[in-house]
Amino acid sequence: MTFRTLDDAGTIYGQTALVRVDFNVPMEAGRVADDTRLRSALPTIRRLNAGGAKVVLLAHFERPKGKRVPEMSLRPVVEPLAALLGKPVAFADDCVGPEAQRAVGALPHEGVLLLENVRFHPGEESNDPAFAAQLAELADFYVNDAFSAAHRAHASTEAIARVLPAYAGEALRRELEMLDKALGAPERPVMGIVGGSKVSTKLDLLNNLVGKLDRLAIGGGMANTFLFAQGHDIGGSLAERDMAETAREIIASAARSGCELLLPVDVVVSDRVEPGASANVRALGEVGPEDKILDAGPETLKSIKDAIDGARTLIWNGPLGVFEIPPFDHATVEAARFAARHAKTERLIAVAGGGDTVAALNHAGVAEDFTFVSTAGGAFLEWMEGKTLPGVAALAA
Ligand code: 3PG
Repeated sequence: MTFRTLDDAGTIYGQTALVRVDFNVPMEAGRVADDTRLRSALPTIRRLNAGGAKVVLLAHFERPKGKRVPEMSLRPVVEPLAALLGKPVAFADDCVGPEAQRAVGALPHEGVLLLENVRFHPGEESNDPAFAAQLAELADFYVNDAFSAAHRAHASTEAIARVLPAYAGEALRRELEMLDKALGAPERPVMGIVGGSKVSTKLDLLNNLVGKLDRLAIGGGMANTFLFAQGHDIGGSLAERDMAETAREIIASAARSGCELLLPVDVVVSDRVEPGASANVRALGEVGPEDKILDAGPETLKSIKDAIDGARTLIWNGPLGVFEIPPFDHATVEAARFAARHAKTERLIAVAGGGDTVAALNHAGVAEDFTFVSTAGGAFLEWMEGKTLPGVAALAA
C-alpha cells in the first residue's frame, strides 16, 4: 500500500501541524518510566519545526473512557519531552475548544504544544466526525506518527484524516517500510518465530503467517498445545487442550502452503516455576506427569539457530520460554543473540515486535542490534494478522 508522507506535504512554512503521537508511556509514581515513545516522535517534530511549522501534539494516555480522569493527564510528559527536544513544550488543558485554541494561538513560530489526553472526550473512541472537525480547527494539516495506535479507528487516527490533508510522520513511515520488508515483500527465505502462552490469542496471526513464511518456529506455552495436539504427553504443562483440533488445522495448513513448522523436539522442564528452579532436559516421550515444560530444549534451539542461519529475513513475536524466570530464559536469550549477531553483519533482516518480545530482547541485551524493533503491541499483532489498520488506510495515497 502506498501512503502520503511529509515529502508530499509541500511548503509548510508558517503553517500549523496537528501531529498524532503515541505517548501512552509507562509511568511510575507520576513520572515517565520509559521514554522510547517520546524519542520516536522527535524526528517528525524536528522536521516540521525545521520546515517552519508549529507543532501541536495530540495523544491518548490509558483508557479514561470519554471522561476527564486527572490521574490520566498527559501533563507529566511535558518536561521529559522538552528535555529531549531541547526546547520548551507548552501544554493545553484540553484538546479542543477555547482552551486548545488559545494555546495554539499563543504558540510562537516553530513552537511545540502538547494537548491534553484526547480520550477525555467520548467523540475520540466513537470516531465522531463532529469531534474530528473540532480537532481539525486547530491546524492546517494532520500528521499521523502513531503506528501503535493505528489499529484504532478513532477520531484522532481515522476521522481527522478525512478532514485535513493527512500524511504519515517519520516514525510511522519507517515502521511501515520495515514491516513491509519483513512480511509484505521480504527477501527469502523468510522465517518467523512465534511464541507466547496461548494459541487462542494468536490464531489469526499463525494462519496468516503459515501462508507467507518459508519456516515458522513455534515456542512458549503455545508450543505445548501443538505437542499435545500431536499426541505427545506434556505432563502438568500449561496448554489449551481444547485448541488441539485448531493446532492440527494450522499444521495441515502449513503443510499445504509449503511452510516448514519447527515444533519442539526436546524441552526443558521443572516441577516449579520459580527463579533458579532445577531445569531438566527431556526428549519428547520422556515428560513426566509432574513436569511443566518451561523452555525449548537444546536440540530445538539448535534447529531454530540453523533456520535463522539459513534465512534472509526473520520476523519475531513472542518468547520461546518463560523468559522472565531464569533459567527458563535460555532458549529465548540464545536465539535472540544469535539473530542479533546475524542482523548486525546484515546477513539477516531481523524485525521483532509486541510487548513481551521487546522485553525479551531487552533482557537478552540485543534490541539495539535487531534491524527493527516495533514498540507497538496490538497494532503490530493486527498487522501480522494481515489486517488493514484504519489509521494507515486513512493515509492511502
Ligand atoms: C498501546 O499502548 O498499545 C497503544 O497506545 C494503544 O493503546 P490502547 O490499547 O489503549 O488503544
